[in-house]
Amino acid sequence: MSAERPLPRPRLVIVDDEPVILDLLASLFTDGDVDVIACRSGKEALERMEQGGVDVLLTDKNLPDFAGGGLDLVRHARRITPDAEAIVITGYASLDTALRAMELGVYDYIVKPPRDIFDVKRKVFQAFEKQDLARVNRRLVRDLSAKNAELEQALDALKATQAELVQAEKLAGIGTLAAGIAHEISSPLFGVMGLAEAIRDEDDPKLVRQYATDIVEYSRTIKDIVVELSGYSRTADHEYLTTVDLARAIDDSVRLVQRSGLVAEGVKVLCDVPPALFVHARTNEIQQVFVNLVKNAVEAVQERHGVGHGTVRVTGGQVPREGGATVWVRVEDDGAGIPADKQAVIFDPFYTTKPPGKGTGLGLNIVYRILTKYRSTIGVESLPGQGAAFLLRFPVD
Ligand SMILES: Nc1ncnc2c1ncn2[C@@H]1O[C@H](COP(=O)(O)OP(=O)(O)OP(=O)(O)O)[C@@H](O)[C@H]1O
Ligand SMILES: [Mg+2]
Repeated sequence: MSAERPLPRPRLVIVDDEPVILDLLASLFTDGDVDVIACRSGKEALERMEQGGVDVLLTDKNLPDFAGGGLDLVRHARRITPDAEAIVITGYASLDTALRAMELGVYDYIVKPPRDIFDVKRKVFQAFEKQDLARVNRRLVRDLSAKNAELEQALDALKATQAELVQAEKLAGIGTLAAGIAHEISSPLFGVMGLAEAIRDEDDPKLVRQYATDIVEYSRTIKDIVVELSGYSRTADHEYLTTVDLARAIDDSVRLVQRSGLVAEGVKVLCDVPPALFVHARTNEIQQVFVNLVKNAVEAVQERHGVGHGTVRVTGGQVPREGGATVWVRVEDDGAGIPADKQAVIFDPFYTTKPPGKGTGLGLNIVYRILTKYRSTIGVESLPGQGAAFLLRFPVD
């Protein structure tokens, strides 16, 4: 921070060819905080002004040595110090002088001999004030344009940062996609692994055959995801849309989570979804939705009760609506719950409260993206410490 510099003393240039009047005028200002430059001629005044500038010029109108007289001296003062003020003293109050003085923007004029000498002093100080104001104004304008320039610079920097952020966001988007693909594939892969392990310990050939059939099913899901991702286009979208039986898709999803080894013994997963609830979608995407919701619910009850306790309940139904119906599904648990201030962010990518390696924070984001694609909604209700419920609504025509 720089200390305030003392302001230079204002300069008053007084010009009169009559020594008595000049002395009298100069004596008025000896007590003021003003530098008084008393000049006997226009020529001298011009020289002094050229050397050191002028703030207020108090000049006789008639200056024998100066062709243009006092008014010309005013012009010079303005050229030297643009906001200089001037007061002109004239021997006879002619209208012509007054008009010309005003045209020049002269602050005031005084008729000689002045009736009240202190009136001259007052006028000079008023002229200083006006000049001071003009100077403050100029400084304000200058400061303002400097600030403006700073702001413009800041704006440019901000624009550059914004562009960088957009770029970073795009890159993050690519990362999200890659991580999302891995996540989508990891769920059916869980199923395959669980079943393969089960086959190793299974002697019943009927069950082994059942597990093998399921493995083929999950492998098909993985293949579908890969095919779907590689041929990501509108036509492909339409090819894969089918009428999905929700009860079946939910059952499959619950089985998948159970087989993944995540659901420890003692955790109840109850499904009460009536048959014949249909949505027009892709089967594997609907499964993806419920795998994630049930997996989260199981993880939440285990977080609250420890291994082997807690209940996850999936219910569903259908209510009529203008022009069709709304199919709803509710996935609720009596787990750890979600604090109110976190309920809005749980759908954001990478938001997770799970330890590193256990959660990517992509599950609910994938759920949300899939549902949005089908014009469906998801909402959450939760009492922290008591559980959470996710309510899904699918519009059907
Ligand atoms: N049923 C639930 N009960 C309590 N908290 C939940 C529940 N479902 C989600 N959450 C909270 O939302 C966060 C985000 O969930 P999300 O499924 O997106 O990611 P994740 O489960 O942490 O990781 P990922 O699903 O990628 O393995 C969770 O970490 C958890 O804090
Ligand atoms: Mg999850």
